[in-house]
Amino acid sequence: MAESIDKEESKRHILQSVAEYYQAFMVPQPYENGSRISYASRVFNEQEMINLVDSALEFWLTSGRYTDQFEKHFANYLGVPYCSLVNSGSSANLLAFMALTSPLLNERAIKRGDEVITVACGFPTTVAPILQFGAVPVFLDVTIPQYNIDVSMLESAYSSKTKAVMIAHTLGNPFDLQAVKKFCDKYNLWLIEDNCDSLGSQYRINGIEKFTGTVGDIGTSSFYPPHHMTMGEGGAVYTSDSLLHKIIRSMRDWGGIVSVLQAEIIFAGIALT
Ligand SMILES: Cc1ncc(COP(=O)(O)O)c(C=O)c1O
Repeated sequence: MAESIDKEESKRHILQSVAEYYQAFMVPQPYENGSRISYASRVFNEQEMINLVDSALEFWLTSGRYTDQFEKHFANYLGVPYCSLVNSGSSANLLAFMALTSPLLNERAIKRGDEVITVACGFPTTVAPILQFGAVPVFLDVTIPQYNIDVSMLESAYSSKTKAVMIAHTLGNPFDLQAVKKFCDKYNLWLIEDNCDSLGSQYRINGIEKFTGTVGDIGTSSFYPPHHMTMGEGGAVYTSDSLLHKIIRSMRDWGGIVSVLQAEIIFAGIALT
């Protein structure tokens, strides 16, 4: 018992020192004419620095108390039931895409050679998972100056092999969600919203204000420093669909439910042995 009191006391002492350190050295200076303005600089307060050290003192290296709290609160903020934290926005995109290849989705599962509509001018890791898996990206133009998908081209991009649309909301400016969602609903396509650049943007769809990333089947976020919130590195995958959530969690946590690609590798391995 005495040991645990000492530990708490010692922790309190360290965190108090962190607060003093923050106040002495880390408080942002007010802007003055000629001050340097850093691109994507970190903005953090005393409490955030304390939380950082608190987490380090536990030395819990994998996802733990803070991850659970974050997933719950982030999902709550977005208005979705399920959120899974990952190590980057690119991993979030990979996981979101791979989830849609799960055999649990039956005939809706994306298979190699299936087509996924995306844009020709976008972020590389919005497209990389499609190629990595062996599906076929179908590139549409963007409109200028929005740099978002030209929705007038959607119908001409559709084929019997189309399974999904995977695109980003460009630099905080939502793409035409109403038109894209309507197109996806019409052909029973999955919609992945890469929300890495647009956290907090809202869109009125069917009379309801929703956060971008929560209208499609799966949304993704990045917490790399240039984005709205940062963990240094980090990302999140969110959905309102319980089956997709189950697949996402399983694949994130070492893949209890295998994807088609993984299953093929496993079966090929068995065939060789
Ligand atoms: C639209 C978009 N998607 C995905 C990513 C990848 O995020 P991360 O750098 O966390 O891998 C970024 C990164 O800037 C991005 O802008």
